[in-house]
Amino acid sequence: MALWRTNLKVALAILLSVLICFLAVPSSATPADNRTGQVTVFWGRHKDEGSLREACDSDTYTTVIISFLNVSGHSRYDLDLSGHPLTGIGNDIKHCQHVGIAVSLSITFDGSKNTLPTNQSALNLSDHIWNAYLGSSGKGHLDVLARELAKRSIRGKTLHLTATPRCNFPGSLTTGIFERIHVRYYGDHAGNCDNWDDWADGYPSSRIFLGLPASPEAVKEGYLYPKSLYYGILPVAQMSANYGGVMIWDRFYDRASSYSSCVNRWA
Ligand SMILES: *[C@@H]1O[C@H](CO)[C@@H](O)[C@H](O)[C@H]1NC(C)=O
Ligand SMILES: *[C@@H]1O[C@H](CO)[C@@H](O)[C@H](O)[C@H]1NC(C)=O
Ligand SMILES: *[C@@H]1O[C@H](CO)[C@@H](O)[C@H](O)[C@H]1NC(C)=O
Ligand SMILES: *[C@@H]1O[C@H](CO)[C@@H](O)[C@H](O)[C@H]1NC(C)=O
Repeated sequence: MALWRTNLKVALAILLSVLICFLAVPSSATPADNRTGQVTVFWGRHKDEGSLREACDSDTYTTVIISFLNVSGHSRYDLDLSGHPLTGIGNDIKHCQHVGIAVSLSITFDGSKNTLPTNQSALNLSDHIWNAYLGSSGKGHLDVLARELAKRSIRGKTLHLTATPRCNFPGSLTTGIFERIHVRYYGDHAGNCDNWDDWADGYPSSRIFLGLPASPEAVKEGYLYPKSLYYGILPVAQMSANYGGVMIWDRFYDRASSYSSCVNRWA
């Protein structure tokens, strides 16, 4: 009964948000034709967001980024999944890949510098994760890490490197290494880092993703109402040849708001 009620609540929430999507834009509006349909979500920041497998089965995302692998001084690595059990993650990843969802791992670096202290720590980390996907940002020794990882491959498959940088454009990322860059259109620096063209033109060989919060609760500032996204932001972003898609922060809030049910038709 309780489960039934919960499901009903979730169903109503989804119905409501889909309705809001439809109300936001006239049904006759033709979406821009440069859509890629790529929607990426971060998973692993809340115990109550459902499993990785469930996120992949939600029929909403094309990529799920596991967050985070925390790296701190002297090669200490800590996979912090906010209390999600680690057993089963491997099977969930396989399941996701089996149903065609890409899974990657996001790495964060300890300290405000958001980088690695030495080349040796970069090499150590690349040893540690050479068979994982990388998603991070920074400067200096991170380039060594990225280059080192980019040189490697897993069973013939190339590593795909992505970055979700803080607001430190320009020149903070080595060009030509990161396959994707997720630009955070939110957070403390909302408004400073939202010059789409700087990113799109600055990193022509990367696919640039529009990073958005799933609800006003997800971040302090920077939530975009579906209407502004549809009419204001996406048409500009999709004019760039290297527009990649949309990134959602994060699964927990998206599961509650169903923001991605709007976004994945427009991305
Ligand atoms: C890992 O990094 C994230 C993001 O910076 C942080 O929120 C989290 O508390 C860190 N976890 C540990 C165990 O240090
Ligand atoms: C790199 O790894 C080696 C071997 O595990 C360790 O002795 C060394 O302290 C690490 N170096 C850094 C800079 O983390
Ligand atoms: C670190 O590695 C990079 C790239 O291989 C090299 O250019 C740089 O000189 C190295 N730095 C140090 C301090 O060894
Ligand atoms: C699609 O992208 C091209 C550049 O690749 C751009 O010239 C064109 O304006 C875009 N079309 C739309 C509808 O955004």
